[in-house]
Amino acid sequence: MRTQVGIIGAGPAGLMLSHLLHLEGVESVILEAHTRQYVEERVRAGVLEQGTVDLLMESGMGARLKKQGLVHHGIELSFSGRRNRIDFQDLTPGRSITVYAQQEVIKDLIQARMDAGGEIHFEVSDVSLHGLDTSKPSIHIGAQELVCDFVAGCDGSHGVSRASIPEDALRVFEREYPFAWLGILAEAPPVSDELIYTYHERGFALFSMRSPQITRLYLQCAPDEDIARWPDARIWEELCTRQATSDGWRPAEGPILQKGITGMRSLVIEPMQYGRLFLAGDAAHIVPPTGAKGMNLAIADVRVLARALAEFYATGRRELLDQYSATCLRRVWKVQRFSWWMTAMLHRFDSKDGFELRRQLAELDYVTGSRAASTSLAENYVGLPMEC
Ligand code: APR
Ligand code: PHB
Repeated sequence: MRTQVGIIGAGPAGLMLSHLLHLEGVESVILEAHTRQYVEERVRAGVLEQGTVDLLMESGMGARLKKQGLVHHGIELSFSGRRNRIDFQDLTPGRSITVYAQQEVIKDLIQARMDAGGEIHFEVSDVSLHGLDTSKPSIHIGAQELVCDFVAGCDGSHGVSRASIPEDALRVFEREYPFAWLGILAEAPPVSDELIYTYHERGFALFSMRSPQITRLYLQCAPDEDIARWPDARIWEELCTRQATSDGWRPAEGPILQKGITGMRSLVIEPMQYGRLFLAGDAAHIVPPTGAKGMNLAIADVRVLARALAEFYATGRRELLDQYSATCLRRVWKVQRFSWWMTAMLHRFDSKDGFELRRQLAELDYVTGSRAASTSLAENYVGLPMEC
């Protein structure tokens, strides 16, 4: 078997890369470890930056997104029992976010690749990478071999791609956080039109949504939290305690459809390239979920990679490919900084003397009270330019 670009992983990074390459006339094959149903149903975040929406629309992926995506022109930061709005229309004119679940993006991309005759192989186990530092890398799938010009490692944080790079050829930068998120999907109409990030002395909480019928909510919990200790009644009680505001607002309750724990980590691999292997998305970096940047970063990476590969096949020039890692990392670190900052501002850290709590309340007061500080939050939240 032979293709131009062998792609490992059918998450947002791998699928979008294959789609963009197809539009440029470059062929690719995707190898995915799980079933189609698994990748289409995995519950993840659901906030698209303006630049992600623009790219999906420009590349012909906007039909369902336009109909079902919920455009939001602001978010709220809630603390000391009061909600404070960050108004994107005022602070970042023309830019907004769209709430559209990651698995809907996945379904749209898989359908588009299938309709165009694209090759996606699901349930492919036992993948190994060879000859990455030669001009003919190959992917072994058991006894079969897929020979490629390039390999794109889009296989997330536990994939085979990053693990195939010799340890002395990369550096790993990492931070762990002393908490996690307990997330639920509930069959309850969202009782706010916008997302609400809450700082409370019992811990962070987030009010989000998926549709006019479905609410998505999160609670800060211990990093090793046992979900069995959280029956539905306890979840609602804790959400209401943290999120209720003095004007009487509280989330509407309803049957819980799904619950799970999301870990919190910051990680960056440098460089994002080894020979003819290019890492993209979670394979190269992880951000904590505060701010919902994971999928947006993955899409920004593959936009750069697709352009570089298209340039190579059209002209034989390698400059953009050679600059791939440096181009992506400039933006990756800015987004990493923002996700870390939002996380540090909104979560309760164990501190004995109350210094952290007072510092965080002062920061929230400043961010919501100063136009300069609100604008900084808003421009990062709606998304920095794709290359910055
Ligand atoms: N072989 C083939 N496929 C693999 C392998 C392997 N050895 N290891 C992992 N995969 C697949 C996973 O099953 C998954 O479908 O790679 C895919 C990686 O997809 P994601 O984890 O969604 O990563 P990415 O495309 O980079 O998207 C980043 O997804 O993890 C979320 O929150 C994150 O929103 C962010 C986005
Ligand atoms: C979500 O809706 O899942 C979501 C929203 C905002 C975040 C993280 C997750 O910051």
